Amino acid sequence: MRGTLVICTDLDSLSREAARRFANTVEARARDQSEVRVALAGGSTPRRLYELLAAPEFSARLPWAKLHFFWGDERLVPRDHPESNYRMVREALLKHVPVPRENIHPVPGQSSAEAAALAYEQELRERFRQSRGFPAFDLILLGLGADGHTASLFPRAPALAEKERLVMPHIPAAGGLVRVTLTLPVLNQAREIFFLVSGGNKAAALRLAVEAPGTLPAQQVSPRGGGLLWLVDTAAASQLHSVRVEPSPVSESKP
Ligand code: 6PG
Repeated sequence: MRGTLVICTDLDSLSREAARRFANTVEARARDQSEVRVALAGGSTPRRLYELLAAPEFSARLPWAKLHFFWGDERLVPRDHPESNYRMVREALLKHVPVPRENIHPVPGQSSAEAAALAYEQELRERFRQSRGFPAFDLILLGLGADGHTASLFPRAPALAEKERLVMPHIPAAGGLVRVTLTLPVLNQAREIFFLVSGGNKAAALRLAVEAPGTLPAQQVSPRGGGLLWLVDTAAASQLHSVRVEPSPVSESKP
């Protein structure tokens, strides 16, 4: 068992637990930091979490002026495109909360994935005021693909093997969305990482990710800060051997 696993009944209870823990983490960091830097996950799973963070119960707790939002990965599409991770976060969260515009750091729109990756790397270095080494996000939210990918780090892809750069392009071999992604060294420099995993189609990948050593992207995520949390629903947890899956609102399994 790598990290802490919390099994929730369904996506809604998973999202509520994620919102609770997100708010606790951000409030704690904001007590002694002028900025709290979070990298957000894309895809569909985290949408409900973002909607909850925009609701009064959580929105009233969050120090929006200190919160800086980045993206763990982005598709190379216009910001108003249905596949844009930026658009998903803007619709679910950003347009409903008083986060200052200058605190929102989307991947720059560029003519190529390589240009976007280089531009985002430059922005990270400027925002973290760090010309060398890897920036340490306070919290990174990640999803899990059925193939074990996370962010836009895909099995056997060049970006997965990158050890120096902060941001890499991902050009899928067999068509599909061109992307840019934070690299593993950046993910693993984080103080905390929350994985949000929902659905039976993720069960096999989740079992490998939390129970087996290996070379899948999600198996290589191990944050320096030690905070690795898996927030999963019972369907995604259905193939786990190291924990008993009880359909309860929340059950927590420590390493
Ligand atoms: C993306 C995400 C990607 C996602 C997983 C899970 O841009 O697609 O960063 O890594 O988290 O593919 O996606 P779902 O949450 O939609 O299942």
